[in-house]
Amino acid sequence: MRILLDNFTKKFGTLTVIDQMDLEIHSGEMIALLGGSGCGKSTTLFSICGIHKINGGRILFGDKDVTNITSQERNVGVVFQSFALYPHMTVEQNIGFPLKLRKESASEVKRKVDEIAEMVHIEALIHRRPGELSGGQQQRVALARALVRRPDVLLLDEPLANLDATLRLEMRSEIRRIQQETGITAVLVTHDQVEAMSMCDRIAIMDAGKIVQISEPREMYNNPVSDFVAGFLGSPPIAFLQGRITDGIFVEPSTGTKMPVNADIAKRANGGEVRVGIRPEFFQPGAGAAIKGRVSFIESQGRETLYNVTLPDGNILRSIQGSQSSARIGDEVEWGVDSSQMLVFGRDGMRL
Ligand SMILES: Nc1ncnc2c1ncn2[C@@H]1O[C@H](COP(=O)(O)OP(=O)(O)OP(=O)(O)O)[C@@H](O)[C@H]1O
Ligand SMILES: [Mg+2]
Repeated sequence: MRILLDNFTKKFGTLTVIDQMDLEIHSGEMIALLGGSGCGKSTTLFSICGIHKINGGRILFGDKDVTNITSQERNVGVVFQSFALYPHMTVEQNIGFPLKLRKESASEVKRKVDEIAEMVHIEALIHRRPGELSGGQQQRVALARALVRRPDVLLLDEPLANLDATLRLEMRSEIRRIQQETGITAVLVTHDQVEAMSMCDRIAIMDAGKIVQISEPREMYNNPVSDFVAGFLGSPPIAFLQGRITDGIFVEPSTGTKMPVNADIAKRANGGEVRVGIRPEFFQPGAGAAIKGRVSFIESQGRETLYNVTLPDGNILRSIQGSQSSARIGDEVEWGVDSSQMLVFGRDGMRL
Protein backbone atom coordinates (compact mmCIF):
# COMPACT_ATOMS: atom_id res chain seq x y z
CA MET A 1 0.00 0.00 0.00
CA ARG A 2 1.49 3.32 -1.07
CA ILE A 3 1.44 6.14 1.49
CA LEU A 4 1.40 9.74 0.34
CA LEU A 5 1.87 12.75 2.59
CA ASP A 6 0.76 15.70 0.54
CA ASN A 7 1.70 19.12 1.88
CA PHE A 8 1.10 17.84 5.40
CA THR A 9 1.24 20.27 8.31
CA LYS A 10 0.93 19.52 12.02
CA LYS A 11 0.75 22.08 14.80
CA PHE A 12 0.49 21.81 18.55
CA GLY A 13 -1.20 25.06 19.56
CA THR A 14 0.86 27.78 17.96
CA LEU A 15 3.90 25.52 17.51
CA THR A 16 4.25 24.26 13.94
CA VAL A 17 6.01 20.91 14.24
CA ILE A 18 5.67 19.72 10.64
CA ASP A 19 5.53 22.35 7.97
CA GLN A 20 4.15 21.34 4.57
CA MET A 21 5.87 17.98 4.27
CA ASP A 22 5.67 15.96 1.05
CA LEU A 23 6.61 12.31 1.25
CA GLU A 24 5.76 9.32 -0.90
CA ILE A 25 6.37 5.85 0.50
CA HIS A 26 6.18 3.21 -2.18
CA SER A 27 4.12 0.07 -1.84
CA GLY A 28 6.15 -2.68 -0.13
CA GLU A 29 8.91 -0.28 0.84
CA MET A 30 10.41 0.12 4.29
CA ILE A 31 11.42 3.70 4.92
CA ALA A 32 13.22 5.23 7.91
CA LEU A 33 12.40 8.60 9.39
CA LEU A 34 15.75 9.50 10.88
CA GLY A 35 16.61 12.61 12.87
CA GLY A 36 17.53 14.10 16.21
CA SER A 37 15.28 14.34 19.25
CA GLY A 38 12.30 16.64 18.75
CA CYS A 39 12.57 16.95 14.96
CA GLY A 40 9.06 15.57 14.44
CA LYS A 41 9.55 11.88 13.63
CA SER A 42 6.93 10.53 16.03
CA THR A 43 4.54 13.34 15.14
CA THR A 44 4.78 12.28 11.50
CA LEU A 45 4.23 8.63 12.39
CA PHE A 46 1.26 9.39 14.67
CA SER A 47 -0.27 11.46 11.89
CA ILE A 48 0.06 8.58 9.41
CA CYS A 49 -1.44 6.33 12.06
CA GLY A 50 -4.40 8.62 12.70
CA ILE A 51 -3.62 9.27 16.37
CA HIS A 52 -3.02 12.94 15.50
CA LYS A 53 -5.42 15.06 13.49
CA ILE A 54 -3.44 17.12 11.01
CA ASN A 55 -3.74 20.84 10.42
CA GLY A 56 -3.14 21.02 6.70
CA GLY A 57 -2.61 18.88 3.62
CA ARG A 58 -3.71 15.30 2.99
CA ILE A 59 -2.67 11.74 3.78
CA LEU A 60 -3.41 9.06 1.19
CA PHE A 61 -3.20 5.27 1.47
CA GLY A 62 -3.14 4.03 -2.09
CA ASP A 63 -5.53 6.44 -3.82
CA LYS A 64 -7.76 6.71 -0.77
CA ASP A 65 -7.75 9.94 1.23
CA VAL A 66 -7.55 8.83 4.87
CA THR A 67 -6.98 12.32 6.31
CA ASN A 68 -10.26 12.39 8.18
CA ILE A 69 -10.83 8.76 9.05
CA THR A 70 -10.03 7.14 12.38
CA SER A 71 -7.00 5.08 13.24
CA GLN A 72 -9.10 1.88 13.39
CA GLU A 73 -10.43 2.44 9.89
CA ARG A 74 -6.95 3.01 8.48
CA ASN A 75 -5.96 -0.61 9.16
CA VAL A 76 -2.47 0.11 10.45
CA GLY A 77 -0.27 -2.00 12.70
CA VAL A 78 1.74 -0.05 15.24
CA VAL A 79 4.71 -0.99 17.44
CA PHE A 80 6.06 1.44 20.00
CA GLN A 81 9.26 1.60 22.01
CA SER A 82 7.42 0.43 25.13
CA PHE A 83 5.91 -2.84 23.99
CA ALA A 84 2.62 -2.08 25.79
CA LEU A 85 1.57 -5.70 26.16
CA TYR A 86 -1.29 -6.53 28.54
CA PRO A 87 0.51 -8.09 31.54
CA HIS A 88 -2.42 -10.23 32.75
CA MET A 89 -2.97 -11.84 29.35
CA THR A 90 -0.99 -14.69 27.85
CA VAL A 91 1.00 -14.16 24.67
CA GLU A 92 -1.79 -15.89 22.74
CA GLN A 93 -4.41 -13.57 24.22
CA ASN A 94 -2.26 -10.51 23.62
CA ILE A 95 -1.79 -11.31 19.96
CA GLY A 96 -5.41 -12.31 19.44
CA PHE A 97 -6.81 -9.23 21.19
CA PRO A 98 -7.24 -7.04 18.08
CA LEU A 99 -9.12 -9.90 16.39
CA LYS A 100 -11.36 -10.44 19.42
CA LEU A 101 -12.23 -6.75 19.33
CA ARG A 102 -13.31 -7.32 15.76
CA LYS A 103 -15.50 -10.20 17.00
CA GLU A 104 -13.80 -12.87 14.95
CA SER A 105 -14.66 -16.47 15.88
CA ALA A 106 -12.46 -18.30 18.39
CA SER A 107 -11.27 -20.80 15.80
CA GLU A 108 -10.40 -18.03 13.36
CA VAL A 109 -8.49 -16.14 16.07
CA LYS A 110 -6.56 -19.28 16.98
CA ARG A 111 -5.65 -20.03 13.39
CA LYS A 112 -4.36 -16.50 12.78
CA VAL A 113 -2.50 -16.29 16.09
CA ASP A 114 -0.76 -19.61 15.44
CA GLU A 115 0.23 -18.51 11.96
CA ILE A 116 1.68 -15.20 13.04
CA ALA A 117 3.38 -16.69 16.13
CA GLU A 118 5.18 -19.07 13.81
CA MET A 119 6.26 -16.24 11.55
CA VAL A 120 7.86 -14.29 14.42
CA HIS A 121 9.24 -17.50 15.99
CA ILE A 122 7.37 -17.51 19.31
CA GLU A 123 5.20 -20.63 18.85
CA ALA A 124 6.67 -22.18 21.98
CA LEU A 125 5.85 -19.18 24.17
CA ILE A 126 2.18 -18.54 23.51
CA HIS A 127 0.96 -19.73 26.90
CA ARG A 128 3.31 -17.51 28.86
CA ARG A 129 2.60 -14.03 30.18
CA PRO A 130 4.70 -11.01 29.12
CA GLY A 131 6.46 -10.96 32.52
CA GLU A 132 7.92 -14.38 31.73
CA LEU A 133 9.54 -13.24 28.48
CA SER A 134 12.82 -11.55 27.61
CA GLY A 135 12.80 -8.09 26.03
CA GLY A 136 13.37 -9.48 22.56
CA GLN A 137 10.57 -12.02 22.99
CA GLN A 138 8.21 -9.28 24.19
CA GLN A 139 9.10 -7.25 21.14
CA ARG A 140 8.27 -10.21 18.90
CA VAL A 141 4.87 -10.48 20.61
CA ALA A 142 4.25 -6.76 20.05
CA LEU A 143 5.18 -7.22 16.40
CA ALA A 144 2.89 -10.22 16.09
CA ARG A 145 0.02 -8.28 17.63
CA ALA A 146 0.59 -5.44 15.16
CA LEU A 147 0.64 -7.83 12.19
CA VAL A 148 -2.16 -10.24 13.10
CA ARG A 149 -4.88 -8.08 11.56
CA ARG A 150 -2.99 -8.06 8.29
CA PRO A 151 -2.62 -4.29 8.30
CA ASP A 152 -1.95 -2.40 5.09
CA VAL A 153 0.80 -0.42 6.78
CA LEU A 154 3.26 -1.18 9.60
CA LEU A 155 4.36 1.76 11.74
CA LEU A 156 7.32 1.34 14.08
CA ASP A 157 8.37 4.03 16.59
CA GLU A 158 11.84 3.27 18.00
CA PRO A 159 10.88 -0.40 18.34
CA LEU A 160 14.37 -1.52 19.36
CA ALA A 161 15.30 1.25 21.77
CA ASN A 162 14.58 -0.82 24.89
CA LEU A 163 16.63 -3.83 23.82
CA ASP A 164 20.25 -4.56 24.66
CA ALA A 165 22.87 -4.43 21.90
CA THR A 166 22.77 -8.13 20.96
CA LEU A 167 18.99 -8.32 20.86
CA ARG A 168 18.81 -5.12 18.88
CA LEU A 169 21.04 -6.64 16.23
CA GLU A 170 18.93 -9.79 16.10
CA MET A 171 15.62 -7.93 15.96
CA ARG A 172 16.90 -5.59 13.25
CA SER A 173 17.21 -8.43 10.80
CA GLU A 174 14.06 -10.14 12.11
CA ILE A 175 11.85 -7.11 11.55
CA ARG A 176 13.32 -6.67 8.09
CA ARG A 177 12.76 -10.36 7.29
CA ILE A 178 9.13 -10.21 8.38
CA GLN A 179 8.56 -6.97 6.49
CA GLN A 180 9.96 -8.51 3.33
CA GLU A 181 8.09 -11.80 3.77
CA THR A 182 4.78 -10.00 4.18
CA GLY A 183 5.56 -7.30 1.61
CA ILE A 184 4.00 -4.76 3.96
CA THR A 185 4.72 -1.06 3.56
CA ALA A 186 6.59 0.03 6.69
CA VAL A 187 7.74 3.24 8.33
CA LEU A 188 10.48 3.03 10.94
CA VAL A 189 11.11 5.98 13.25
CA THR A 190 14.61 5.98 14.68
CA HIS A 191 17.45 8.24 15.71
CA ASP A 192 19.93 5.40 15.15
CA GLN A 193 21.59 5.76 11.76
CA VAL A 194 22.88 2.18 11.78
CA GLU A 195 19.34 0.91 12.26
CA ALA A 196 18.06 3.10 9.43
CA MET A 197 20.87 2.09 7.07
CA SER A 198 20.68 -1.62 7.77
CA MET A 199 16.91 -2.09 7.80
CA CYS A 200 15.42 0.25 5.24
CA ASP A 201 15.12 0.67 1.48
CA ARG A 202 15.26 4.43 1.82
CA ILE A 203 15.99 6.95 4.52
CA ALA A 204 14.32 10.32 5.01
CA ILE A 205 16.47 12.55 7.19
CA MET A 206 14.51 15.13 9.15
CA ASP A 207 15.59 18.37 10.74
CA ALA A 208 13.20 20.73 12.53
CA GLY A 209 10.07 19.31 10.95
CA LYS A 210 11.39 19.12 7.42
CA ILE A 211 12.81 16.32 5.30
CA VAL A 212 16.28 17.45 4.26
CA GLN A 213 17.19 14.44 2.12
CA ILE A 214 15.53 11.24 1.04
CA SER A 215 17.67 8.57 -0.61
CA GLU A 216 18.78 4.97 -0.53
CA PRO A 217 21.20 4.43 2.38
CA ARG A 218 24.36 4.00 0.28
CA GLU A 219 23.53 6.96 -1.92
CA MET A 220 22.89 9.14 1.11
CA TYR A 221 26.17 8.06 2.68
CA ASN A 222 28.16 8.74 -0.49
CA ASN A 223 26.30 11.84 -1.61
CA PRO A 224 24.92 13.77 1.35
CA VAL A 225 23.28 17.03 0.30
CA SER A 226 24.61 18.90 3.32
CA ASP A 227 27.11 18.71 6.17
CA PHE A 228 24.18 18.00 8.50
CA VAL A 229 23.30 14.82 6.58
CA ALA A 230 26.98 13.85 6.24
CA GLY A 231 27.37 14.15 10.01
CA PHE A 232 24.28 12.05 10.69
CA LEU A 233 25.40 8.97 8.77
CA GLY A 234 28.57 7.06 9.54
CA SER A 235 30.09 5.62 12.68
CA PRO A 236 32.64 6.77 13.72
CA PRO A 237 31.41 10.02 12.26
CA ILE A 238 32.85 12.11 9.47
CA ALA A 239 35.33 14.84 10.51
CA PHE A 240 35.42 18.35 9.12
CA LEU A 241 38.20 20.76 8.20
CA GLN A 242 37.43 24.44 7.87
CA GLY A 243 39.30 26.54 5.34
CA ARG A 244 39.34 28.30 2.01
CA ILE A 245 39.63 27.15 -1.59
CA THR A 246 41.87 29.34 -3.73
CA ASP A 247 42.95 28.55 -7.29
CA GLY A 248 41.56 25.04 -7.06
CA ILE A 249 43.39 24.23 -3.84
CA PHE A 250 41.98 23.79 -0.36
CA VAL A 251 44.47 24.94 2.26
CA GLU A 252 44.13 23.35 5.69
CA PRO A 253 44.82 26.39 7.90
CA SER A 254 46.60 24.83 10.88
CA THR A 255 49.16 22.78 8.92
CA GLY A 256 49.16 24.64 5.60
CA THR A 257 48.52 21.34 3.79
CA LYS A 258 47.50 21.99 0.21
CA MET A 259 44.75 19.72 -1.01
CA PRO A 260 43.62 20.09 -4.63
CA VAL A 261 39.89 19.88 -5.30
CA ASN A 262 38.21 19.17 -8.62
CA ALA A 263 37.51 22.04 -11.00
CA ASP A 264 33.74 22.01 -10.54
CA ILE A 265 34.00 22.37 -6.79
CA ALA A 266 36.69 25.03 -7.10
CA LYS A 267 34.43 27.04 -9.38
CA ARG A 268 31.45 26.76 -7.05
CA ALA A 269 33.52 27.61 -3.96
CA ASN A 270 34.79 30.68 -5.75
CA GLY A 271 37.45 31.67 -3.24
CA GLY A 272 35.11 31.30 -0.29
CA GLU A 273 35.17 29.52 3.05
CA VAL A 274 34.33 25.83 2.89
CA ARG A 275 34.03 22.81 5.17
CA VAL A 276 35.72 19.68 3.93
CA GLY A 277 34.29 16.43 5.25
CA ILE A 278 36.59 13.42 5.56
CA ARG A 279 35.27 9.99 6.50
CA PRO A 280 37.50 7.74 8.67
CA GLU A 281 37.86 5.08 5.97
CA PHE A 282 39.39 7.65 3.60
CA PHE A 283 41.88 9.28 5.99
CA GLN A 284 44.73 6.82 5.53
CA PRO A 285 48.51 6.44 5.41
CA GLY A 286 49.81 7.00 1.89
CA ALA A 287 46.65 8.60 0.53
CA GLY A 288 46.54 12.05 -1.10
CA ALA A 289 48.22 15.12 0.37
CA ALA A 290 49.73 14.27 3.77
CA ILE A 291 48.35 16.17 6.76
CA LYS A 292 50.66 16.30 9.76
CA GLY A 293 49.10 15.58 13.16
CA ARG A 294 49.48 13.63 16.36
CA VAL A 295 47.69 10.42 17.34
CA SER A 296 45.62 11.40 20.37
CA PHE A 297 43.27 8.45 20.86
CA ILE A 298 43.21 4.80 19.85
CA GLU A 299 40.29 2.44 20.14
CA SER A 300 40.59 -1.18 19.13
CA GLN A 301 37.34 -2.39 17.62
CA GLY A 302 38.52 -5.95 17.07
CA ARG A 303 39.00 -6.32 13.33
CA GLU A 304 39.73 -2.61 12.96
CA THR A 305 41.30 0.16 14.97
CA LEU A 306 40.05 3.74 15.23
CA TYR A 307 42.59 6.55 15.51
CA ASN A 308 41.99 10.18 16.36
CA VAL A 309 44.62 12.48 14.92
CA THR A 310 44.76 15.95 16.45
CA LEU A 311 45.95 18.82 14.24
CA PRO A 312 47.87 21.81 15.69
CA ASP A 313 44.67 23.84 16.06
CA GLY A 314 43.01 21.06 18.08
CA ASN A 315 40.78 19.90 15.23
CA ILE A 316 40.44 16.12 15.06
CA LEU A 317 40.48 13.79 12.05
CA ARG A 318 39.49 10.13 12.41
CA SER A 319 41.00 7.13 10.71
CA ILE A 320 39.80 3.52 10.63
CA GLN A 321 42.55 1.03 9.80
CA GLY A 322 43.04 -2.71 9.63
CA SER A 323 45.11 -4.75 12.04
CA GLN A 324 48.42 -4.09 10.24
CA SER A 325 48.55 -0.53 11.57
CA SER A 326 51.02 0.08 14.40
CA ALA A 327 50.65 3.79 15.26
CA ARG A 328 50.73 4.60 18.97
CA ILE A 329 49.38 7.42 21.09
CA GLY A 330 51.61 10.50 20.80
CA ASP A 331 53.08 9.45 17.43
CA GLU A 332 53.36 12.12 14.80
CA VAL A 333 51.75 10.86 11.62
CA GLU A 334 51.25 12.18 8.11
CA TRP A 335 48.13 10.62 6.73
CA GLY A 336 46.08 11.96 3.88
CA VAL A 337 42.92 11.76 1.85
CA ASP A 338 42.42 11.49 -1.90
CA SER A 339 40.70 14.60 -3.18
CA SER A 340 38.04 12.46 -4.89
CA GLN A 341 36.95 11.29 -1.42
CA MET A 342 36.63 14.73 0.13
CA LEU A 343 33.08 16.01 0.59
CA VAL A 344 33.09 19.78 0.23
CA PHE A 345 30.38 21.98 1.69
CA GLY A 346 29.77 25.72 1.31
CA ARG A 347 29.24 28.24 4.08
CA ASP A 348 25.53 27.46 4.18
CA GLY A 349 26.37 23.80 4.78
CA MET A 350 25.17 22.67 1.36
CA ARG A 351 27.31 20.35 -0.75
CA LEU A 352 29.37 22.03 -3.46
N1 LIG B 1 1.21 16.25 22.21
C1 LIG B 1 2.07 17.27 22.06
N2 LIG B 1 1.78 18.51 22.48
C2 LIG B 1 2.61 19.54 22.31
N3 LIG B 1 3.81 19.45 21.71
C3 LIG B 1 4.18 18.24 21.26
C4 LIG B 1 3.35 17.09 21.42
N4 LIG B 1 3.98 16.03 20.86
C5 LIG B 1 5.15 16.50 20.39
N5 LIG B 1 5.29 17.83 20.62
C6 LIG B 1 6.43 18.65 20.21
O1 LIG B 1 6.64 18.46 18.83
C7 LIG B 1 8.01 18.38 18.52
C8 LIG B 1 8.32 17.09 17.81
O2 LIG B 1 8.08 16.02 18.67
P1 LIG B 1 8.23 14.50 18.24
O3 LIG B 1 7.73 13.67 19.36
O4 LIG B 1 7.59 14.31 16.92
O5 LIG B 1 9.81 14.38 18.09
P2 LIG B 1 10.71 13.11 17.72
O6 LIG B 1 11.45 13.46 16.48
O7 LIG B 1 9.89 11.88 17.71
O8 LIG B 1 11.77 13.10 18.93
P3 LIG B 1 12.35 11.89 19.83
O9 LIG B 1 13.50 11.32 19.04
O10 LIG B 1 12.82 12.58 21.06
O11 LIG B 1 11.26 10.91 20.06
C9 LIG B 1 8.75 18.57 19.84
O12 LIG B 1 9.12 19.91 19.95
C10 LIG B 1 7.70 18.22 20.87
O13 LIG B 1 7.94 18.91 22.07
MG1 LIG C 1 9.76 10.21 18.97
